[in-house]
Amino acid sequence: MRPSQLTQDLAPLAGDKWALHAEALRRKRAGKEVLMLTIGEPDQPADPVLIAAAKAALDQGRTQYSNGHGEVGLLDALVTRYQQRSPTLLNPGNFICLPGTQTALYVALRAILEPGDEVLVGDPLYATYESVIVACGARPVLVPLDSEAGFILHADTARGYITDKTKALLLNNPHNPTGAVLPAAALRDLGDLARAYDLWIVADEVYEAVIFDPEATPFASPWDWSDLHARSIIVSSISKSHAAPGFRSGWLLASEDFCRAALPLAEALLFGNQPFIADATAAVLQSSDPAVSERMRSDYARRARLVASLLDGRAGLRVFAPQAGMFLLLDISASGLDGQAFAQRLLDEMAVAVMPGASFGTRLNGWLRLSLTVSDSLLIEASARILALANKLIAKQNGG
Ligand SMILES: Cc1ncc(COP(=O)(O)O)c(C=O)c1O
Repeated sequence: MRPSQLTQDLAPLAGDKWALHAEALRRKRAGKEVLMLTIGEPDQPADPVLIAAAKAALDQGRTQYSNGHGEVGLLDALVTRYQQRSPTLLNPGNFICLPGTQTALYVALRAILEPGDEVLVGDPLYATYESVIVACGARPVLVPLDSEAGFILHADTARGYITDKTKALLLNNPHNPTGAVLPAAALRDLGDLARAYDLWIVADEVYEAVIFDPEATPFASPWDWSDLHARSIIVSSISKSHAAPGFRSGWLLASEDFCRAALPLAEALLFGNQPFIADATAAVLQSSDPAVSERMRSDYARRARLVASLLDGRAGLRVFAPQAGMFLLLDISASGLDGQAFAQRLLDEMAVAVMPGASFGTRLNGWLRLSLTVSDSLLIEASARILALANKLIAKQNGG
């Protein structure tokens, strides 16, 4: 018996990217000291409103089947939340509730792509994007994003990659791993491009609540413009905004026509979110206490500045200052090693685990991604060890 060809097509796009993280975890479990700066799990507890509401919903027996579309209370909370930015009137038919942004992304793409279609996506890119596009039978087409231009996806660049097979633009805004936020004008140009070539826009906005650079606000979404509604699908969740990735509670926002068409697919996949999770999600979306996301924003902004003050411009290292999100990119190309080799030596010699940039597309071979979801003191220690390795490598290059 053989699993499908798809499983083989996905294999090289998945596990390998996390090999160094997995190895670091193995060492840690074996009792070795490792400073983990690999993945981005919020380092604060989930929003207490969420926990209390989930407990109350469990006590009330909210453990039955739901429906493919979403629980009424959550749909209403989503309408209220997104109505604030929508120039047209929203209703529950504009949403499908799904377990996390990742599943919403899969449903969104699976519902628009035919075999052989191409999806334009900026490179660097989030580690699962290629897999999810390939899982939908389509082909990711990587549009280079330039660090010198702030890693912003510009319509003029994207246009050069459009073919008669291009079906969609996949946007990640705010962006992981770069932390860049698309300016409204750049997003509007992408919207015009999508209109000119009749493309869908799928926008992953999971980091919307974690924008900390005032220059990057107000945040712009394709849903700000009614002429883009018919072709735009927004995906998001409470994973980052409420420090609750394990709740697996997300959604997509799209036209009612799209949601109607995608519903059988969502049902084939899941047949309805969990009512107690839906109740808890509705409660946090309605809660006016922004304490969790406020703390995240101030923690990550402070830590990004801290790492920059310790590393930027020293031993040839260069920090790309993030505007949002939970990560910071570090250019280590002056060391003479690529990100993979640097990260491996950093783990072996300094017991610091970071992600090699190559896990996020083809443009970050000389980069590392550091997670900001650890304490300031751990970041200070990790930065000192990174600097020590960079100094050692530079000295070796200089014949020292
Ligand atoms: C850009 C991006 N999209 C989606 C996800 C997954 O989000 P969720 O937990 O809502 O599935 C992540 C998680 O790190 C992410 O960084």
